[in-house]
Amino acid sequence: MPSKLYLIIVTAFTAIALVNGQTAGTTTTTWDCCEPACGYTSNLSPGARGPVQSCNKSNQPAAAGAQNACFASSGNLAFSCDKYQPIIVNSTFSYGFAGHGNTATSTCCKCYQFTWTSGAGAGKSMIVQAINAGGITDTDFDIYTPGGGVGDYNACTAQYGAPSGGWGRQYGGVTSDSQCSQLPSNLQAGCHWRWEWAGGDVNEWQITYKQVNCPSQLTSLSGCTPAAI
Ligand SMILES: *[C@@H]1O[C@H](CO)[C@@H](O)[C@H](O)[C@H]1NC(C)=O
Ligand SMILES: *[C@@H]1O[C@H](CO)[C@@H](O)[C@H](O)[C@H]1NC(C)=O
Repeated sequence: MPSKLYLIIVTAFTAIALVNGQTAGTTTTTWDCCEPACGYTSNLSPGARGPVQSCNKSNQPAAAGAQNACFASSGNLAFSCDKYQPIIVNSTFSYGFAGHGNTATSTCCKCYQFTWTSGAGAGKSMIVQAINAGGITDTDFDIYTPGGGVGDYNACTAQYGAPSGGWGRQYGGVTSDSQCSQLPSNLQAGCHWRWEWAGGDVNEWQITYKQVNCPSQLTSLSGCTPAAI
């Protein structure tokens, strides 16, 4: 009897999870100044029209054929763009951009809505567009926030003269709101977003998420539109 009851309860919870269509995941942070992986047309998800725009050193559209500044050091270089900082809509909702999963061709340019279920941001939500992938778990969103840590690659020293390991820790970046003052002025708002809007570090906070159609607020910035769902 107890085991049968357990099975019924498990089945009930599984049904609820499917009805809501939500997947459990986590959030981390990044700002490596590299050309995003979705800046390569070959990485786009099926049906996406792009690629994601990348920028030159002064945050203007990169020249055609520019090389990813994380793997090249001379000639026309492609960096990330400062417009990929989070955008606050109100006290509980922001737009943003993120790396998602490890397979660019599955996620590039798709949009997702998530709600934090743990951490200081619990109850707050975001809609993010995937502009990068790799180096994380498949259910992680690596949120683009300046001072979020350069991670495995660093073009921030080339673009902004950041310390060789980026601002703050290589993984996770700055550790307080006041450390955002180390960043160039055009990146400060997106650094403060983490501490002042999300309410803390953001790293390893739990979420539930699902794919959504992309809002024009994000596709107009990235220049990439995924297949409709
Ligand atoms: C970036 O591109 C703009 C517009 O094409 C150009 O005026 C500027 O000189 C470029 N900056 C760099 C550092 O290449
Ligand atoms: C914040 O904005 C979202 C999206 O427009 C909306 O659904 C939500 O009701 C707003 N929340 C508040 C507290 O205004």
